[in-house]
Amino acid sequence: MPKIAIYPGTFDPITNGHSDLVFRATRMFDQVVLAIANSPEKSPLFSLDERIALARHVLNDYDNVEITGFSGLLIDFARECQANIILRGLRAVSDFEYEFQLASMNRKLDSNIETVLLTPAVQHTFVSASLIKEIARYGGDVSTFVHEHVHRALESKYR
Ligand code: COA
Repeated sequence: MPKIAIYPGTFDPITNGHSDLVFRATRMFDQVVLAIANSPEKSPLFSLDERIALARHVLNDYDNVEITGFSGLLIDFARECQANIILRGLRAVSDFEYEFQLASMNRKLDSNIETVLLTPAVQHTFVSASLIKEIARYGGDVSTFVHEHVHRALESKYR
């Protein structure tokens, strides 16, 4: 059975931390589905279509990565993708409580789908999409935290 991992998130926008996790995952699983949640409750800066386009541009080099949007329950979408693994990133201990709750709830909803938590490279442990947006909003330099294409997209949003 192929190992298909679904990596869900809001990705508003995709950061170098996310890309680092995708890179690690491509070496572990046959296929990685980057599943971009619509997440209207988080009032994302980028529309779902924009977030998908940004991620497609950034992850263009990977043959075994698929990028798609979703709304509704993650576990239903994971089944639809025939994923047997949910992948999430763990940047710091503070992420753990929420991730543990998410993983436990998803296991309760479908015990056939396992959650795998991966840590990013150390230089990405403090990178968060919300911090990047805040820095970009005030004209700060975020070029070391996001792909050049995302950097330009942030600049044009806040221009
Ligand atoms: N308001 C606005 N933005 C918020 C927010 C809030 N209250 N809380 C978080 N965010 C933003 C932040 O920018 C954050 O990014 P950052 O941590 O890089 O700064 C981003 O959203 C991430 O939030 P988080 O909740 O950690 O994860 P996520 O949004 O990337 O992914 C899902 C969460 C999509 C995996 C999860 O919500 C999900 O599975 N949704 C589908 C519905 C579902 O199945 N729910 C039941 C789960 S058991």
